[in-house]
Amino acid sequence: MYLLLSHSTLLALLYGVEFVLSQTAPSTIINVSSLLPDPRTSVVSSHLTSGVAESTTVPATTSGSLFTTSATLTAVPTTTTVPSSSSSAPFPPVGSIPRDYSPAGLSRLWDLIGPVEVPPITTTVIPQTPVTLPSPPPALYPAFFAVTPKDILPDLKFPKGFLFGVASAAYQVEGAVKDEGKGPSIWDWAGHQPGVVTDNSTADVVDLHYYLYKEDVARIAALGVNSHSFSISWARIFPFGASDSPVNQQGINHYADVIATHLQFNVTPVVTLFHWDVPLALNAYYGGFASPNIVDDFIQFVYLVLSSHGCCIIHCLALKHHSRYTFNEPQVFCANVGVFPFNLSLPNGVNSSNAQFHCSYYLLKAHAGAVKVFREMNISGEIAFKSSDYVGMPWRANNTEDVDAVERHAAFGIGVFADPVYTTGDWPQILKDTLSPDYLPRFTEEDSKEILGTADFFAIDAYRTYWNAAPPEGIDACVSNSSDPLWPSCNLEVMFDFNTGWASGPASDPLTSWLQATPQFLRSSFKEYHRRWPAPRIYYSEFGFAQPFEGVRTPAELFQITEDTDRTNYYMTYLGELLLSIQEDGMPVEGAFAWAIMDNAEWNSGLSARFGIQYVNYSSPTLQRTYKRSAFALSDFFQTHLQKEVAI
Ligand code: NOJ
Repeated sequence: MYLLLSHSTLLALLYGVEFVLSQTAPSTIINVSSLLPDPRTSVVSSHLTSGVAESTTVPATTSGSLFTTSATLTAVPTTTTVPSSSSSAPFPPVGSIPRDYSPAGLSRLWDLIGPVEVPPITTTVIPQTPVTLPSPPPALYPAFFAVTPKDILPDLKFPKGFLFGVASAAYQVEGAVKDEGKGPSIWDWAGHQPGVVTDNSTADVVDLHYYLYKEDVARIAALGVNSHSFSISWARIFPFGASDSPVNQQGINHYADVIATHLQFNVTPVVTLFHWDVPLALNAYYGGFASPNIVDDFIQFVYLVLSSHGCCIIHCLALKHHSRYTFNEPQVFCANVGVFPFNLSLPNGVNSSNAQFHCSYYLLKAHAGAVKVFREMNISGEIAFKSSDYVGMPWRANNTEDVDAVERHAAFGIGVFADPVYTTGDWPQILKDTLSPDYLPRFTEEDSKEILGTADFFAIDAYRTYWNAAPPEGIDACVSNSSDPLWPSCNLEVMFDFNTGWASGPASDPLTSWLQATPQFLRSSFKEYHRRWPAPRIYYSEFGFAQPFEGVRTPAELFQITEDTDRTNYYMTYLGELLLSIQEDGMPVEGAFAWAIMDNAEWNSGLSARFGIQYVNYSSPTLQRTYKRSAFALSDFFQTHLQKEVAI
C-alpha cells in the first residue's frame, strides 16, 4: 500500500523524531541514526512482506537512515481522497445480518458494497486466431554487459518435469465481480471503502480474466512456459460462503472450463484454494477468519471442490504430480485481519491487536482439516500452503542481539505457520514466550497431531531478503513492553549494508519500496528454508518485481513500458541463482512461478504498482495485453534450460 503522508507526518520523518505511523496498528518507522555507519540512504518502508504492505519514500535526511520495521500489522493511510464510487456506510455489527440465502439475501450483501462497475465484455471470449509471439526485443547491448538468457549458466538445466510458470490470483485478475452468481468477497468490499486502495481503483473489472481466460492461457502457452498458478474464488462457488448455503453451479462450470483450457494448451494448472478473498458473508455472519466457525466452512468448500459435485474440477486435480495449495501467504493475510477495514468485522473477544493470532490459529486448523479431506479422498498429487517472508541475516554480523533479531523475524514470519506444519506441531517458542494465550491460542495435543505433517512439499513466495537488527531499545525491553511499536516481533528490517551503507539491491517502484532485487541471498535463503522446514520438494511459488514508475505511464508510452529491463534483470539473476541452488547446493526445487501473468490489482496499491510480465491497457475496451521484455526473457530462459528428453 502506498502511504499518503500528511504534512506533519512528513515533517516528523524528515526531522527524525520517533514516530508511529498507524492509527490502528503498531506499524512503525523508527529513527535509529545512532546505529548508522553511513547515512546515504533514506528509503523507508513499513514492509510486512510481499503483498499487502505500505510504503513510501522520503527525501534524504541529515539525521540518518530510517529503517523498516518487521511489524506484524500494517498501517492505514493518514490522508486520502474519497473515491466517488465508494460507499462509506459502516459495516453492520457482526451477526446482525440474517443468513438469508435467497437472491434477496445476496442483494443485501452486495448492498454493503454499493454499485460495482459493469465489465465491457460479459461473456467468455473464444479467440478466433491462434496466439503467435510478436518479434522479440533486440538483445540488450552490449553483450559483454548484459548477456542473453541462453548464455546464463548454459550448462545447468532444470530437473526433468520442472514446472516453470506464471502466477495470478482470482481477486487480482478476474474482474466480473458480480457476474454469474458470484457473491461479494471481503476484498470486493474493501476496494470500495474510502482510503483503502491508494489510487482509488477497484478490481471490479481489472483484467477481466474471468471472461478472457482462453486468450490468457493461449498467451501463456505461446511463451512456451508450462504452468500457471491461479486461485479459485470461494465466493464464486459458495456466494454466501457457508457450507449449508447454496452452491453456484456456474462457478463450478467456470473453473472446470478454466482447467480444461489449461490442459488443452498443455499448461499445468496449479490451484490455490484461498488467496485472501473470503466471502464477505462470512465476515458479516461471524467475523471470518477471526472466528472458529471458519474452520468447517473452509473444509466444506474444499470438500465440495474436490468431490463429485465439483467433478470437472476434480478431473484436473486428480492428475498425477500436480501440486496445489490450500492457503496463499497466511502470514500476510492474518496480519491484515486486524487492520482497517477488516477490523470492522471482528467478533466479540477479538480486537485489532490479537486478531492476527486468532486468525493464525483457525487458519492452521482449516488448513489441516482441508488436507485431511484431501488425503482421505485418495486424490493423487500433493498439497501444502504457500509460505512467504524470508530468513534474514544479522545486520551487524557479530552482534548477538542482531542474531536474535534474525531468529525473531524467522519465527514471526515463516515459522508461525511452518513450524506447526513441518517440524513441531506447535508455535515457535519465541511466539509462546512473547504472546499470552489470549493473544495466541495454544494448541491442544489433538490440534498438534492434526496439524503436524499436513504438507507434502514446501512452497515459498520469496521476493527478497533483508538484514535484521535488534530494536534500538534492545530486544528484552521491547518484548516486555506491549506498547513498544515493534512489539511483538521486536526486530527491524534493514535494506542496506551495515559496513558500507550501500543498498542490498536495486529498488523497485516507490509503491513497493519493500522490494529490492537481492539475488545474492537466494542460495543461502533456500538452504535456510530447507534446513529449518525440510520437505522432499520445494516450489518457488512466487517471485517478481515492480518496474519503477510503470504505473504512471500512459498507453501512448507502451514502447517504454514493454522495455522493463529492471524486471528482466531481476528474473534473470534470480533464475541463474536458482539453477545454482538446485545444481550446486542440491536444493530439491521442482518449480518456479513468476508473479505475475499480467498487470493486476495489487491489493492496497491498486493498479498503480505493476508486477505483470504482460502490460494490460486498462483504457482499451478489450483490455489488450502486450508482452513485455521480461516475458520473452523468461520464455528464452526456460527453453534453453529445460532438460530435453534424450531419445534412446
Ligand atoms: C504475493 C501475493 O501472493 C500476491 O497476491 C501479491 O500481489 C504479490 N506478492 C506482490 O506483492
